[in-house]
Amino acid sequence: MPKNKTPKIVNTALLLLLINQVVTGMLGMKLSTTFFEWGHRRAAWLLITAAAVHLAMNWNWIKANYFEGK
Ligand code: HEM
Repeated sequence: MPKNKTPKIVNTALLLLLINQVVTGMLGMKLSTTFFEWGHRRAAWLLITAAAVHLAMNWNWIKANYFEGK
């Protein structure tokens, strides 16, 4: 069976977006307004979306480990 590449793509995107958010957030006002607007403010929506997809893809694991344990 061919391996599912989706988790690798989502997880890599999530890592890169997280690094981008921290770096642009720390540089903050040193960046131009437009750069900050796209690189931090709008990129935040991509990060939130990638995080939501990541949680959804791993939901069975989360349920089993956090909600069905004794
Ligand atoms: C180490 C991580 C981060 C740092 C250092 C950081 C830093 C900053 C700074 C300095 C601002 C500008 C505030 C201002 O003067 O208006 C800002 C705005 C913002 N940050 Fe971050 N941030 C970080 C992580 C995040 C994350 C994880 C998200 C969301 C996923 C996020 C979303 C936003 C948004 C939406 C704004 C715009 C807020 C507004 O315009 O009212 N940031 N951040």
